[in-house]
Amino acid sequence: MKNILVTGGAGFIGSNFIRYLFGPGGFKGRVVNLDKLTYAGNPENLLDVARAQKGRYAFVKGDICDFKLLAKLFKKYKFDGVAHFAAESHVDRSIFGPKDFIETNIHGTFALLETARQAWGGRKDARFHHISTDEVYGSLGRTGKFKETTPYDPRSPYSASKASSDHLVMAYHHTYGLPVTISNCSNNYGPFHFPEKLIPLVILNALAGKPLPVYGDGLQVRDWLYVEDHCAAIWRVMKRGRPGETYNVGGNCEMKNIDVVKGICAALEKYAPAAANPALAGKAYAGLITYVKDRPGHDRRYAIDFSKIRRELGWRPSVTFKEGLERTVKWYLANGGWVLHVQSGAYRKWLRKNYNR
Ligand code: NAD
Ligand code: DAU
Repeated sequence: MKNILVTGGAGFIGSNFIRYLFGPGGFKGRVVNLDKLTYAGNPENLLDVARAQKGRYAFVKGDICDFKLLAKLFKKYKFDGVAHFAAESHVDRSIFGPKDFIETNIHGTFALLETARQAWGGRKDARFHHISTDEVYGSLGRTGKFKETTPYDPRSPYSASKASSDHLVMAYHHTYGLPVTISNCSNNYGPFHFPEKLIPLVILNALAGKPLPVYGDGLQVRDWLYVEDHCAAIWRVMKRGRPGETYNVGGNCEMKNIDVVKGICAALEKYAPAAANPALAGKAYAGLITYVKDRPGHDRRYAIDFSKIRRELGWRPSVTFKEGLERTVKWYLANGGWVLHVQSGAYRKWLRKNYNR
């Protein structure tokens, strides 16, 4: 691949992926980042890349649902690779209002697939990689893990929209021979994570002396993966994954939510002790933990069997949860300016309206 279209590259995982491509990924070609800049997209996430990669990195503000724009970009840049991240990604928001999820995640994926099909004809040397989620498989009981063969059973508007887009991607392979791959990954965490999601929300609320909201009994399980490990997996699948195949990606790191929150409090006590933080007024960070009303339809447990990508492509997670969490906490402590920017404006208003926070 020489010319890659990254959609949603101004978001959390997409921006980490572009940085990875130009760094450890060793990519020598050109990247075009197409992003609508919703509340979750922030070009500031890639300022370093934009400066260092002049001529090899371009940003285009636009919507993946816009057929005309897509056709123009495919013609101009002659893409031979697509890494499709753009999506509405937050389960809670999909419960408050599913419309944008249906538009971007389903219609937007369709627009991209159709444009790639028209631009590539019967080409087999290109690659359309769709970034998806383990949530399409539904919820696990106490045992077992999601495999690529686990039947789909999405249970939130978010996961239903992602499941729908996965089916469209595979349909384009089987019907038109489009050279596609899909990766279904578990929960990511790391730098540039928007602070509506559990880990960054808890870090920033703790530093501000605000309650740390734990949904329901806090015993739900997620399988956490450091974002750079996910980026490495995606790049491997794009380069060497078999067309028409799905690869599950996970962290081998099942954690109960309450233990994640306690782990964050412990990491904060190490790097920014509560005793020296005036917002805590003498409390420990763990003293802020507050059980709140559960998320409707909250999936109980996710866990990924990633033996296929390990066996076929030699990928495995490399960063332990303890190490990844410490890196993440240190990143948020060092990037107060970024935090201030993403917490202003639309995000603040949404929090007040929906959570009265
Ligand atoms: P994010 O919300 O941080 O970023 C999404 C990006 O997409 C933003 O930059 C946003 O502006 C852009 N976008 C939204 N609608 C758009 C549109 N119509 N046109 C163009 N751009 C648009 O999301 P994320 O956490 O980085 O997730 C990226 C992808 O990875 C998503 O497809 C998500 O389903 C998938 N995924 C995420 C996780 C996770 O833990 N975060 C895990 C597995 C899979
Ligand atoms: O599994 C992959 C998915 O992980 C991705 O597809 C999604 O895009 C991504 O947002 C993430 O979904 P989750 O719903 O698992 O992530 P979130 O950070 O919102 O929540 C993680 C867990 O923490 C979940 O069980 C809900 C719980 N939670 C979340 C928030 C925001 C809380 O207990 N309190 C909170 O305030």
